[in-house]
Amino acid sequence: LQRTFVMIKPDGVRRGLIGEIIGRLERKGLKIVAMKMTRIDKQIAHKLYEEHVGKPFFNDLVEYIGSGPVVCMVIEGDEVVKVMRTMIGATDPKEALPGTVRGDLAMSKGENVIHASDAEEKAKKEMSLFFSPSEIIG
Ligand code: GTP
Ligand code: MG
Repeated sequence: LQRTFVMIKPDGVRRGLIGEIIGRLERKGLKIVAMKMTRIDKQIAHKLYEEHVGKPFFNDLVEYIGSGPVVCMVIEGDEVVKVMRTMIGATDPKEALPGTVRGDLAMSKGENVIHASDAEEKAKKEMSLFFSPSEIIG
């Protein structure tokens, strides 16, 4: 069994999509083992998106990701890192397939509703940014 980090981004929260997105995860058969609403300041944004520091879109990304509350979750399931990446769809929602979260619910690459870790090591790092071990309910 694997765990991954999933986050509903500020546009998803603003647009009232929390229930829609959590519903998809639950209907898929994945288990939510931790969840919280929070805000992402510049320092956390740099840690979460370390790999993108210095890229042309990085300042826009930090501004966007800090523009309102986010909903952070740890999700558990068989091969869940890969399963969640498939479920969220391509980074650019205009290319994301119908049936995926971004394919069904977003239009903008800069504001694409949801984040999910892209590798197991990244998942561990990202969940530790937002949750202490005692907040993850096995
Ligand atoms: P995350 O799950 O959020 O990490 O998305 P991803 O793994 O599908 O994409 P990636 O890690 O390459 O980029 C991280 C985030 O930066 C994206 O989800 C977008 O919100 C934003 N982003 C990536 N590329 C661009 C871009 O070209 N322009 C803008 N404005 N934002 C971008
Ligand atoms: Mg990414």
